[in-house]
Amino acid sequence: MTQTALIADGGRTDVVGRPMPDFPVPAPLSSHGPARIVAMCNQKGGVGKTTTTINLGASLAEYGRRVLLVDFDPQGAASVGVGVNPHELDLSVYNLVMERDVRLDDVVQTTAIDGLDVLPANIDLSAAEVQLVGEVARESVLARALRPALDDYDVILVDCQPSLGLLTVNALTAAHGVLIPLECEFFALRGVALLIETIEKVRDRLNPALEIDGILPTMYDSRTLHSREVVARVHEAFGDTLLHTVIGRTVKFPDASVAAEPITAYAPNHPGAEAYRQLARELVARGDTA
Ligand SMILES: Nc1ncnc2c1ncn2[C@@H]1O[C@H](COP(=O)(O)OP(=O)(O)OP(=O)(O)O)[C@@H](O)[C@H]1O
Ligand SMILES: [Mg+2]
Repeated sequence: MTQTALIADGGRTDVVGRPMPDFPVPAPLSSHGPARIVAMCNQKGGVGKTTTTINLGASLAEYGRRVLLVDFDPQGAASVGVGVNPHELDLSVYNLVMERDVRLDDVVQTTAIDGLDVLPANIDLSAAEVQLVGEVARESVLARALRPALDDYDVILVDCQPSLGLLTVNALTAAHGVLIPLECEFFALRGVALLIETIEKVRDRLNPALEIDGILPTMYDSRTLHSREVVARVHEAFGDTLLHTVIGRTVKFPDASVAAEPITAYAPNHPGAEAYRQLARELVARGDTA
């Protein structure tokens, strides 16, 4: 695997030199739920939030988990990425959070991946940010909307938009955990302190149980010292919040998005697919998902 190195005694280390644990294939589940809700969050754009939502979701589904992807970005990229056309939606997550008579079952769509469903979004959702400002309990409309799904799924992954606005605060209020994808480039760390401050505010005021599940380095290039330095600095600053798994940079990810498939379906044997499977196993081993 490209993201791990072999050391002399045969033990593997991760990219910052910690021993790489062996993450076992998760045991099958005999029943489903209650779901753990995980928000994919980073206010910086283009860091791999949507790619991680789709591919972690697909990997967990491969391991027999029932997974719901919640597209909570008006760009609708997570919906497109699993084969839903956002322009042809009768109902989207916007209707679910804004209209009391819309039921979750009316909005959820199945995907080509067994065990992977999606609550799709489109540009309508951008109006919610403004309309919610005047609502009662405006930070918890997503949490309320997702309640009926908790018994049916093992994991609910919420793909956030690149901002710390009201939609993202809703995702953090609904979530049990936050996963922070971080692009391996020099300025990546700049926004993380602000993100963590926001997470702590939501924890203090709205959602005391909220945990940071991990920081996931993405677009890692093993050929550059630079990638390695960024991850080393993340480790210095955040310790074992840094996951062992890193996601390498490869054009197979944009290729898979064009094909509207998870990489695990588009190129099942590619190291990028294996990296997301390892992420799924690591999160299950950490107790961060079912
Ligand atoms: N590991 C990777 N290697 C190469 N390209 C990647 C990788 N991960 C994601 N990409 C590509 O980078 C672009 C941005 O990724 P993605 O859409 O997942 O980020 P995002 O954080 O969701 O962006 P936004 O903030 O706009 O929602 C996409 O074109 C995606 O295909
Ligand atoms: Mg995105």
